[in-house]
Amino acid sequence: MADVRLRRYHAEVWNEPVITEMGRSGERGIRISGAGEEIREAVGDARSYIPSKMRRGRPPRLPELSQPHVLRHFLRLSRQTLGMAVNIDIGLGTCTMKYSPIVNEDLLRLPEFADLHPLQGEETVQGILEIVHRFAAFMKEISGMDEFTFQPGGGAHGIYTNACIIRKYHEVQGELGQRDEIITTLFSHPADAACPATAGFKIISLYPDGETGLPDIEALKAAVSERTAGAMITNPEDTGIFNPRIDEFVEIVHEAGGLCAYDQANSNALFGIARAREAGFDMCHFNIHKAFSSPHGCMGPACGAVGVREELAEYLPVPVVVFDGSGYRLDYDRRHSIGRARQFHGNLEAIVRAYAWVMSLGAEGLRKVSETSILNTNYLIRRMSGARGVSMAYPKQAVRLDQVRFSLQELKEDTGVGTDDVSRRVVDFGVQEYFTSHHPWVVPEPFLPEPCETYSKEDIDRWVAIIHRICEEAYADPEIAKTAPHSQTISKIDQEMLNDPARWAMTWRAYERKHGKGE
Ligand SMILES: Cc1ncc(COP(=O)(O)O)c(C=O)c1O
Repeated sequence: MADVRLRRYHAEVWNEPVITEMGRSGERGIRISGAGEEIREAVGDARSYIPSKMRRGRPPRLPELSQPHVLRHFLRLSRQTLGMAVNIDIGLGTCTMKYSPIVNEDLLRLPEFADLHPLQGEETVQGILEIVHRFAAFMKEISGMDEFTFQPGGGAHGIYTNACIIRKYHEVQGELGQRDEIITTLFSHPADAACPATAGFKIISLYPDGETGLPDIEALKAAVSERTAGAMITNPEDTGIFNPRIDEFVEIVHEAGGLCAYDQANSNALFGIARAREAGFDMCHFNIHKAFSSPHGCMGPACGAVGVREELAEYLPVPVVVFDGSGYRLDYDRRHSIGRARQFHGNLEAIVRAYAWVMSLGAEGLRKVSETSILNTNYLIRRMSGARGVSMAYPKQAVRLDQVRFSLQELKEDTGVGTDDVSRRVVDFGVQEYFTSHHPWVVPEPFLPEPCETYSKEDIDRWVAIIHRICEEAYADPEIAKTAPHSQTISKIDQEMLNDPARWAMTWRAYERKHGKGE
């Protein structure tokens, strides 16, 4: 990789205190003048409107700062962050980190969207309802499903919604007592096990074949029974390997009386190529906040789009946006609805962004997204070859779709440098740390890049060159990676602390209690 020039990078360091440690008593950003005499006369004492037992005994202990101090504080913090828009985040596999066009943010800030209130009457929000309805039509075409809801607030929430639909379906059939098992595969996203478990099911995980990485169909045949409620499966799995026999898997579960839910969060490589319907699935979910270019907000304003076949449309969370020939309305009349997945209508801003994204691409553009993403992944695999100490998991599967799982086991054995060390070291090159794998690690010392369609050949070359460089460096001087990062705002942190309830704190008050005031 001698042909790629790596960038020099060093983060800003401000040693910024937390905001509660800043300011002085009485310092103010805005001074709000008291109510005028006329108002006071008309309204009286505002405090009298709050029952005395609900009133505070003393003012809350909030930071007291002037405007410039607040501005400086947050700007400094933002500059200490390696932002998504300044780095190449190819390393965040099973997330589909991609460029989210900034023009879509402008759209969202139009008052027609920004000033909407979820309690407005239907007749006053026809525009946004039309967008939701039209976007649902796109999703039906993309998946082959018949109806969609966009209420769930993320991918795992979408999977949970599907698990609730499966539960309700068997309840209506009078079989819930008997059907209490959900089958998944080990390389499906862990939410495909965790969410049905939360919905009360027992989970059976099918292990991958040691050579091909594919889930074993014979194991599935042995697992299904009259207790099978359904299967919840990711495909391509979190290795980037596509199970070409997925329709047979679905058939086996159907024959046993179960329903099948397709986790399509890895759909970035499937647009216009393969659909849930043709594979036989009864329902599916997409991560709108990832595959459809809406930013992946770290548990933030996400959207898990859930699609179902007509037979299950009665089970969807309400309300569903429908068109009655003259206008759009909210349909609450679903006989077996699982209820609400969340309040109001979900994160509609994710829908507006995704709608704009799909409109800008069209059907051909969407297919190109997938073709480019597959091409990028396989180009990355070729460029990675020869990286010292790195191997691809399940090498018999030469072609991967949206992502690929590698192993640094050899590097670890040879140098003591493991995947966590390399992940910390990449940030010294101005690149976000990469995702290793969900736990437990089935592939030893793993990492999972996902170079979707928005990365250029140059981006991929640069990212791969960083991995080559770090691996070479590990053989020459392993301490560099083991003590990384060196060019960041903070250096290596004590991970043990994160697992020690006596030391971590979720709130400032808890922090003070555990560490003493002023520390
Ligand atoms: C395949 C798959 N399923 C489900 C999820 C969970 O999505 P979320 O993080 O939005 O809950 C992810 C997350 O990346 C995923 O990759």
